[in-house]
Amino acid sequence: MKLHLTTPLSSDINKQRQALRAEMRQKRALLTLEQQQQSAQSIIAPALELIERYQAHHLAFYLPFQGEISPLPLIDTLRQQGKAIYLPVLHPFSAHQLLFLAYHSEKALEQNRFGIWQPKLDVRNVLPLNALEMIFVPLVACDKLGNRLGMGGGFYDRTLSQKKLISVGLAHRCQQVEQLPLAHWDMPLTHLLIGE
Ligand SMILES: Nc1ncnc2c1ncn2[C@@H]1O[C@H](COP(=O)(O)OP(=O)(O)OP(=O)(O)O)[C@@H](O)[C@H]1O
Ligand SMILES: [Mg+2]
Repeated sequence: MKLHLTTPLSSDINKQRQALRAEMRQKRALLTLEQQQQSAQSIIAPALELIERYQAHHLAFYLPFQGEISPLPLIDTLRQQGKAIYLPVLHPFSAHQLLFLAYHSEKALEQNRFGIWQPKLDVRNVLPLNALEMIFVPLVACDKLGNRLGMGGGFYDRTLSQKKLISVGLAHRCQQVEQLPLAHWDMPLTHLLIGE
C-alpha cells in the first residue's frame, strides 16, 4: 500500500519523535560557546571538499538558531571563493513552503514568525529551486544512516521532495543517535557532516 503523505503516524512514533526533539534541543542548548565555535570550525574543511566535489556554485545555508551548528565561518570562506549564498525564507502565503533568497548582507535581514532571521522578501532576490545546487540544512537529530529529524514543520521535507537536491545535514556530535523514529515523508540527507 502506498502511504499518502497525510496518513497520520502512530501516536507511539509521534511521541517518540517529540520526546527525542525535546531531549536533543536541550543537549544542544547546553553546548558551551567554545564547543560551538570548535564544532563550527571543524565542518569547514569537509564542507569545502564536498562543494568542490560537486562543483556547486549556488548554495543554500541557514542562520543558526537555538544552538544549531553555525555555518557562518564556512559561509565567510565561500564568499571569498565567489560562491552565491542563499537563505530560506518562509513563503508569504503558501503555508510550510520555503523560498530561497540571496544572502547579500546582514542589514537586509528580518525575523520571521519563529524568530529566525531571514532576508527581507524581495522578488529580485528569489532563486528558483531548480537553480539551487546544494542545500545545507540544520537539524534537531540525525542517525547513522543520514536520516534527519527537524523542528517539526516539514519545511525541509517539502523542499527536498520538490527537487532532487544534494542535501547536507550539519550537526553536533551530541545530536546523532543510532536510529531515528522515521515518518514516511521524511527525506533522507545525501550527506551528513558532524562537528566535533
Ligand atoms: N512533502 C510533503 N508534503 C506535504 N506535507 C509534508 C511533506 N513532508 C512533510 N509533510 C508534513 O509536515 C509535517 C511535519 O513533518 P516532520 O515532523 O517530518 O517535520 P521535520 O522534518 O521535523 O521538520 P523540518 O523539515 O521543517 O525540519 C507532517 O505533518 C508531514 O505530514
Ligand atoms: Mg521530517
